[in-house]
Amino acid sequence: MKIALHGASGYTGRLAVAELARRGIDTVLVGRDFSRLHSAAAGTGFEVRRADLHDHDSLTAAFAGADAVINTAGPFARLGAPVVRAAIAAGAHYVDTTGEQQYIIEVFDTFTGAAADAGVTVVPAMADDGGPSDFISHLVADAAGPMDTLTVALWYRGGAFTRGTLRSLDPDLLFDGALRYGDGGWTTYGEASHATWRFPGEDPPVRVSKAALPPVATVPRHVTVGRMEGLLGGSFDVLKDGIAPAVIDALPEGPDDEQRRQGRWTISVEASGPGGRAVRGEVEGTDGYGKTAVIAVEAVCRLVKDGATAGVLAPSQAFDPESFLDFLSGHGVRWHVTTG
Ligand SMILES: NC(=O)c1ccc[n+]([C@@H]2O[C@H](COP(=O)([O-])OP(=O)(O)OC[C@H]3O[C@@H](n4cnc5c(N)ncnc54)[C@H](OP(=O)(O)O)[C@@H]3O)[C@@H](O)[C@H]2O)c1
Repeated sequence: MKIALHGASGYTGRLAVAELARRGIDTVLVGRDFSRLHSAAAGTGFEVRRADLHDHDSLTAAFAGADAVINTAGPFARLGAPVVRAAIAAGAHYVDTTGEQQYIIEVFDTFTGAAADAGVTVVPAMADDGGPSDFISHLVADAAGPMDTLTVALWYRGGAFTRGTLRSLDPDLLFDGALRYGDGGWTTYGEASHATWRFPGEDPPVRVSKAALPPVATVPRHVTVGRMEGLLGGSFDVLKDGIAPAVIDALPEGPDDEQRRQGRWTISVEASGPGGRAVRGEVEGTDGYGKTAVIAVEAVCRLVKDGATAGVLAPSQAFDPESFLDFLSGHGVRWHVTTG
C-alpha cells in the first residue's frame, strides 16, 4: 500500500506523517515547498514530491503510484477541489480532513460521476468532527427507526485552534450561512432549534449556536430524516466577528503537544421520532488534531484494503460505523447510544 499525503508540511499534515510512520505505511509527501516537505519527512525516510496545486498535470503526476491520497491542506473551499480532481485522475482513493460544510456538498455535487467513472472512492470530512459525528448519527438513526428530526451538537473545550483552522472558519458560512437539511435538500435558515444543549455530565446545559457542521452535509445521504441541523457549544463571539488575517498570521502555528492533548471534544446526537420518542448518542475524545490524523490514516487503510463503492461517499457509506468507532475506542474515544 502506498499513500500520498498532500499538505504534509502543515500542522495536521505533520501529525498524519507521524501516524503513517508509526504504522509503517509507505508514504510520499506532496506539497508546494521542498524545504518544508523535507523538514516534515525528517526521520521517516518518506519520499518527497513537489507539485503546484494549480498545475493539474504536476499534481496528478505527484500522486502517481499512490493507492490513496490524504489531503490536509486547507482552507478546502479554496484549495480542495484541485486535489480531489488530481487524485481521481491518478486513480487514487481520496480522503480529507475538512470541516467546511459547503465544501463537502460541493465535493458530492462536483465529483460523484468522475470518481465513479474512475473506480475510486472519495470521502471528505474524515476528521475528528466529520467522521465520528456521521458514524454516531447513523447508529442513532438505526436505533430510532422513523425520525422527524436529527440534531447534532458539537462542543470543543480546552486546547486551541491552529492557524489553519482559523483561516478555514469563514464566520458568514459557519454561523449565519449554516445549512440545515429538510424537504430533501439543504438551505439556510433562521433561528436554531435550541439555545442550550445538555451534554453528558454537564449541568447546567451549555449555550449553543446554529453552525455549519459536516454531518448535516453527509448524514441525510444514508439515513432517512425529515430535518437535520447542527449546533456548536460554547461562546464563539470572537469568531462570529471574524479575525483579521494579519492577526491570525501573528499567532503560533497551533497548540503545543501538551495543550493539543488537553483539548476535549464531545459530539452529542439526538433523534426525535413520532410521539416525541428520543434516542441519543454521544462520542467523546481528546486531542482533536491527533485524532484527526488517526482517523484519516485509518480511513485510507480501510479503503485500500477493504474497498468501497466508487463515487463520493459519506463516512458511514464507506465504512462500517460501529467498527470504525470501536477502532477509535482503542485510541481513547468513548461512544454510546442510549434508547430512552
Ligand atoms: N474538521 C476538523 O476537525 C479538522 C481537524 C484538523 C484539521 N482540519 C482542517 O485541515 C486544514 C489544515 O489545518 P492545519 O492546521 O494543518 O493548517 P496549516 O498548518 O496552515 O497547514 C496548511 C497546509 O496547506 C498547505 N497549503 C496552503 N496553501 C497552499 C497552496 N496554495 N498550495 C499548496 N499547499 C498549500 C500548506 O503548505 P505550506 O507548508 O507550503 O504552506 C500546509 O501544508 C484546515 O482547513 C483545518 O480546518 C479540520
